[in-house]
Amino acid sequence: MDLCVIGCGYVGLVTGACLAEAGHDVICTDVDSARIAQLNAGQVPIYEHHLDDVLKSARAAGKISYTDDAGDAIRRSEAIFICVGTPPKENGQADLSAIDNVARQIATEALSPKLVIEKSTVPARTGLELRRALNAYSRNSAVTFRVVSNPEFLREGTAVEDFLHPDRIVVGVEDETSAAQMREIYRPILEQKFSCPVHNGACPATADVPLLVTTINSAELIKHASNSFLALKISYANVLADLCEKIGADVNEVTNAMGLDPRIGGQFLQAGLGFGGFCFPKDLQAFVHLAGTVGVDFDILKAAERVNKQRIDRFLEKVHQALWVIKGKRVALLGLAFKANTDDTRFSPALEVAQRLVNEGADVHATDPEAVSRAKAVLPQVTYHEDVYDTLRDAEAALICTDWDEFRNIDWQKAGSLMARRLVIDGRGLCDLQRMRELDFEYFSFGREQLRAHATAR
Ligand code: UGA
Repeated sequence: MDLCVIGCGYVGLVTGACLAEAGHDVICTDVDSARIAQLNAGQVPIYEHHLDDVLKSARAAGKISYTDDAGDAIRRSEAIFICVGTPPKENGQADLSAIDNVARQIATEALSPKLVIEKSTVPARTGLELRRALNAYSRNSAVTFRVVSNPEFLREGTAVEDFLHPDRIVVGVEDETSAAQMREIYRPILEQKFSCPVHNGACPATADVPLLVTTINSAELIKHASNSFLALKISYANVLADLCEKIGADVNEVTNAMGLDPRIGGQFLQAGLGFGGFCFPKDLQAFVHLAGTVGVDFDILKAAERVNKQRIDRFLEKVHQALWVIKGKRVALLGLAFKANTDDTRFSPALEVAQRLVNEGADVHATDPEAVSRAKAVLPQVTYHEDVYDTLRDAEAALICTDWDEFRNIDWQKAGSLMARRLVIDGRGLCDLQRMRELDFEYFSFGREQLRAHATAR
């Protein structure tokens, strides 16, 4: 099927690449001509595991192309995926102006019926507004539009794998024809018939992928409800960590045991610096805002948000307690991205920590396997290093802010000999407590025993 993807950000590119890999003809467009030129030159503007391979092979097979002529892309496709940004406004509400612009463009450029698929994360009822807008902006009564909500559940870093091996595909529709068309678009994924770039043909056997057909409103709610619930789970684990510290329990022991109950599940119970990124914080706010507009009190989510904001304060309290005076001290900040396996620093707790340390006059040295150039642009006061041991050299404290394997695997014996003081404040719970004790480190983390100087317990 001829498909168009509007918006060449991370969701748009992963969607376009994977649907092209699955055999469709995909044309991608974006208002940012420089980005289109970059893609046409074979460059991938974001770091996402496997994405460059998939784009390269789809391009070589003639299955994907890029244009800044949105009108042409719209006219040549049967189905159009809207993958534009919906950033938060001051009041937490999602800014839907990019969706409105795209609706106007589709309505004025289309010469034949179109299936318009909303993939951007939007509050419930947006699909219905989108349909109204398409009809209102259209000047050609012979052209009809059918709107579908098809939320994405892609995690940055594993987005290609998540797209090709989803645990569910949700399509919110208004009629059976739209559902049938969506089933056709996703058939190669539902039947797992594509050459998988992630597993090189040896994909693990998994259960059939369910395609859930719902109303548009339900589909939109499923996305926000899922992200908000996961955020709630993380905040729960974080409050639990604070309690463990006070009571003298170990949060990992507690959450490991809890997670074995299938009704709870072990994922997203990792206590630490809290959640960041461009999804959870904004989706939580948008969901709370949506509930508020219809008079539903979703205070439980406001609490999750409050707990998350306090993680940075809690982390800095630990830094203050350990270092006493921060001004002028050299600290090694390990991690800048909001989580491992991405170069994304948007709403990253690590960057917030770095900013606050800079404000307090610390001499901040930082490293990250992928996110240094993005961080440099917003925090030029920091000294950046490529190598983790160069970052740690002469530091009075190592502050772990992102859960990269590179930091999990640090040789702390070597690090200890380079650092000015054997002190680690671990915001992601990556280090082995026993090992840190053996190496005579002062070691502070969330929800576990704190190893203070001259080890007089907690
Ligand atoms: C999230 C969802 O997991 C995806 O399903 C969804 O499609 C996506 O948002 C989206 O809305 O587009 P993502 O933002 O890539 O994906 O990141 P996650 O892997 O979910 O992590 C979010 C944050 O939570 C990170 O800062 C991570 O460090 C933190 N986290 C995660 C914890 O603090 N503890 C945990 O146990 C798990």
